[in-house]
Amino acid sequence: MRKKIISMTMALVLGLSLTACGDSGSSNGGSSTTSGGSSSSDKQGSSDSSSGSSGADVANKDKPLVWFNRQPSNSSTGELDQTALNFNDKTYYVGFDANQGAELQGTMIKDYIEKNIDKIDRNGDGIIGYVLAIGDIGHNDSIARTRGVRKALGTAVKKDGDINSEPVGTNADGSASVVQDGELKIGGKKYIVRELASQEMKNSAGATWDAATAGNAIGTWSSSFGKDIDIVASNNDGMGMSMFNAWSKDQGVPTFGYDANSDAVAAIADGYGGTISQHADVQAYLTLRVLRNALDGVDIDTGIGTADDAGNVLSDDVYIYKEDERSYYALNVAVTADNYKDFTDSTKIYEPVSSQLDEGSHASKKVWLNIYNASDNFLSSTYQPLLQNYDDLLNLQVEYIGGDGQTESNITNRLGNPGQYDAFAINMVKTDNAASYTALLNQ
Ligand code: BGC
Ligand code: CA
Repeated sequence: MRKKIISMTMALVLGLSLTACGDSGSSNGGSSTTSGGSSSSDKQGSSDSSSGSSGADVANKDKPLVWFNRQPSNSSTGELDQTALNFNDKTYYVGFDANQGAELQGTMIKDYIEKNIDKIDRNGDGIIGYVLAIGDIGHNDSIARTRGVRKALGTAVKKDGDINSEPVGTNADGSASVVQDGELKIGGKKYIVRELASQEMKNSAGATWDAATAGNAIGTWSSSFGKDIDIVASNNDGMGMSMFNAWSKDQGVPTFGYDANSDAVAAIADGYGGTISQHADVQAYLTLRVLRNALDGVDIDTGIGTADDAGNVLSDDVYIYKEDERSYYALNVAVTADNYKDFTDSTKIYEPVSSQLDEGSHASKKVWLNIYNASDNFLSSTYQPLLQNYDDLLNLQVEYIGGDGQTESNITNRLGNPGQYDAFAINMVKTDNAASYTALLNQ
């Protein structure tokens, strides 16, 4: 009971501090809050011992585990870490289809150019110039998005049989070898497409996908070749919005991101070019659902491809499951001026899986879950709020741990007592680091 009061107090404090600093997410480091299941104040005061199992009768190494958002993989080669994905027979990964989404993002930008060809080339030199913000050069999703943009715009160069995804640095004169000048034929006329600049947005402390770094980069780029920039592209909306607010909104330069965060979707009305929804509403559900199913000891497809006892079910146009990768991937949707009004609230749960499970047959269980970077725009403003909506529906009492985005130990230090939990949901800082978590569960 005392613990409950403490965690409720912490939730309150966190809530207040969130209000105080606006919607930009909590500050770096040590945040933690519990919500969902029987810890929410609106449920009658069941004692700690009756709120589900203690987690003590099952060995930690045999408990359900889900990796999410950062797939265990080699950060240089992209090869999946099958050991981590097969930690036990209740281990899964939940993410989204990176290649399908990357293709969509590239096509969305190309379509925009074609439709707006009469005004896109701002200085009229026949070259359509773009700059690109790269999230994390060792993250498969980031790599896929860089490749998708380069492929669609014809600027891709192959390296070892695949599209080179390295940042170009600056390339205002088109002489770089990491990319090439592309060519688009529109209305019988030929245009050159050039990647003027790209860089990994990593801050000095090591945090990747860093929005502030992107805001600074567009300042530097625009002051030396601003008139050449016709399009701003970004591996995500956090960085995209930072560049939009710092420069491109005032200049009327279309800016494209990824994630369909609410602020980015709203900005489409002000000239943000578009974004991609990675169906976070489906991913957040799947993240907790696979744990729920494993805890219930039912078929893993329950409430996913097969309706559960409350009627929750997903149709196969919103996700795919690859058994050999133990991975669920949500499918992506392009969000542009044509349809953005359907995407204004990124934290709204997905209607086909919005029914409450019965607590009698799905007893409350405790889950340890971490967000690798409490300041990441997508994870803090879209993904975590969705998780917090679903945890109640699935009777999961989730302890949310917020990392600093830089050091794995900042998070693993707070997994000191895995015996207290029934299941684990992990979002690593670096995709190579799965073993630092599984080592703790193996002890
Ligand atoms: C999102 C990014 C986010 C990253 C964190 C990606 O799926 O698109 O916005 O920064 O995950 O791992
Ligand atoms: Ca131009």
